[in-house]
This record gives sequence, structure tokens and C-alpha cells, in this order.
Amino acid sequence: MTTTAGATQGFAAGDSFAVAAARSADLEAQITAHPERFRVLTGDRPTGALHLGHYFGTLANRVRLQDAGVDVVLVVADYQVITDRDSVGALSTTVLELVADYLAAGIDPVRTTVFAHSAVAALNQLMLPFLSLVSDGELRRNPTVKAEAEASGSRPLSGLLLTYPVHQAADILFCKANLVPVGRDQLPHVEVTRTIARRFNERYAGGRQVFPAPDALLTAAPVLLGTDGTKMSKSRGNAIELRASEDETARLIRGAKTDSDRVITFDPVNRPEVANLLLLASLCTGRSEQALAEEVGGAGSGALKGLVTEVVNEHLRPLRVRRADIAADRGQLLGVLRAGNLRARELAEATLDEVREAMDMTY
Ligand code: TRP
Repeated sequence: MTTTAGATQGFAAGDSFAVAAARSADLEAQITAHPERFRVLTGDRPTGALHLGHYFGTLANRVRLQDAGVDVVLVVADYQVITDRDSVGALSTTVLELVADYLAAGIDPVRTTVFAHSAVAALNQLMLPFLSLVSDGELRRNPTVKAEAEASGSRPLSGLLLTYPVHQAADILFCKANLVPVGRDQLPHVEVTRTIARRFNERYAGGRQVFPAPDALLTAAPVLLGTDGTKMSKSRGNAIELRASEDETARLIRGAKTDSDRVITFDPVNRPEVANLLLLASLCTGRSEQALAEEVGGAGSGALKGLVTEVVNEHLRPLRVRRADIAADRGQLLGVLRAGNLRARELAEATLDEVREAMDMTY
């Protein structure tokens, strides 16, 4: 067990990024050749409607993997909402809005399993053996726990927040997912999951591979900033939600921060806000930022914003039409989630049975 831990902790952050990046390129090739060999687990905390940052950062990638034939499982991590806050608002509404965003973006509930964390008891039970495999020091040093703790300000760290990497490991391992799409900052999560899988196999299963160690699949997506030039996030009020109306989208983009240079150029280092608008237009049109910048040129930031508004609204139009239909039928959304919960329960029960057997706890 110590050897496993040593090997994992031996990586410096930079090394593990380089290793994961090389590995991801190889994995992409394998996905193309043999999509049926992969199961992806990922998901979201249901804290509000999804925005363009989610869409271009993760959601479109999940749809791509699904359409490539990979088995995709999406966790709506409702228990994670209470890691750092006392009140959660109308949680079931938020959860169903998230499901509506998934479906509108192209997630097909027949091929992809969408389930709520709280609905799958056997998944949550995995937490107990997994907790025995990590030390409190390891949890306190985890970069995600640290970042989350800092983000929650002066609040004391809850046990649930401290054990965040462990419940994420349970989310991933309950269905034996072998692929977790992540941004660079999320790599430590996957490392903890790999550590827990290896330690479980060694300590409780005599070296048998009850749990595969999943790979991180680094997403190549560039980071889209909000309308004020900082990270796009609902709480900063700088996000364009997928469900926003065309008028609201126009208003938000009109109010976006730019700079005083009249001529539009693509210069991410010196003109990050303008570059971000060009990136957004590029993501929506498939054209390069440079070509778009040249097209706008001396017409200035007003013209750039007009162009961005047009292409964003055009790109999202089919999604928004689908979303309006889907969101109008709460019963159907609930039906999708319940079907996903059932499938997730089957997977979790099967895994928990194996765990009980490995641990000699079958009575
Ligand atoms: N923590 C993720 C988020 O904030 C959601 C999540 C929960 C997740 N469990 C996961 C992501 C497992 C990847 C793997 O959005």
C-alpha cells in the first residue's frame, strides 16, 4: 500500500500534467478506434443553469463522446451542493433545469445515463470503505479541497467538504468508469480516485482488480471568460446562460468589457477581453479569431459585439428551441432522471456486491 501511495505522490504537478496530456492524446486515438471499451463518468453540482462556459468547456465534449459511441454516465451531484452552503434553494427545480440543459445540448437519455447522486444508496455506501483508505493529511493537502475551502471564505471546513475527493472517487468507481474528462485543475481528483482504486485492490481484494484505475481525459477546450473578463460563473454575474433569451444575450454582450483601442485585433495577452469575444465568436462559427478580427477591423468594439451577439444567438437557437420544449414538461424530465437513477442503482448494487465479497462481508 505504501508503494502505491508513494508512486502517486511522487509526481510533481507539472509532471502529472505532462503525463496526462500525452496519455490523453493516446486515449483519443483509442476512443476513435474502440469507443465500446470506454465508460466516461462526469457530472455537475446542480447550483444553477448552465452557461456558455459549461457548454464549450465540458457539455459539448460529453455529447461528442456519447456520439462517438462511448458509454457516458452523468452524475447530478446534489449532495455536493451542501459541501459549502447551508441552504440550497429549490433543489429539485435546479436539478431538473440541469437535466433540461443536458438534453437540449444533445445528451440522449437512451444512450447516456443521467442520475442524481442522492438517489443511489449503494454508491454512497462505497464512501465507508473508501474513507478507510485515505488519511486526513492527504485530504487536507488535496488542492481541490484547499481551493474549495478558500472559496467558502471563513466558514469552517465541513466533513463533507474535507472528504470531497472521496465521494468523487465513489462517483467514478461505482460504475467502474475508466475515463474522466477534466480540466487541468481537476487532475488531483482523478489522482485520488486512482489511489483509492489501487489501495482497495491491494488491501481488500488481495491484488485482484475490483476497481480499474481511471484515466483523466484532458479537455482541450480553451477557457471562455465572462463578460467582465474574469472566469465565467453565475455567482459573478458575468455569465451568458444557455437558456437566456436572444434579447438578454444581446444585452449581456453589449455590456461586455472591452478596451479603448478602436481597431479590433486578436491579442490574447494585451487585449484579453476583446480576445475573449473573438474566441466566443470563433467557437460559434468555426472560423479563426484572426479572420474574425480582420473582418471587424476598424469598425470597432460595437461592431464586434454585434457580430458576437448574432453568432451566439444563431448557434444556440436550435438548442434553445429544444430546451423550451423539454423544460415545459417537468414530468418528462423527472422520467428521464428516474430511468437514469434505476440504471445507476443496478450498476452500484453490482459493484457493492463485489466489494462485500472482496471484504468478506457477505452475510
Ligand atoms: N465536482 C464536480 C463539479 O463541481 C461534479 C462531480 C461530482 C464530478 N462527482 C464527479 C465530476 C465525478 C467528475 C467526476 O462540477
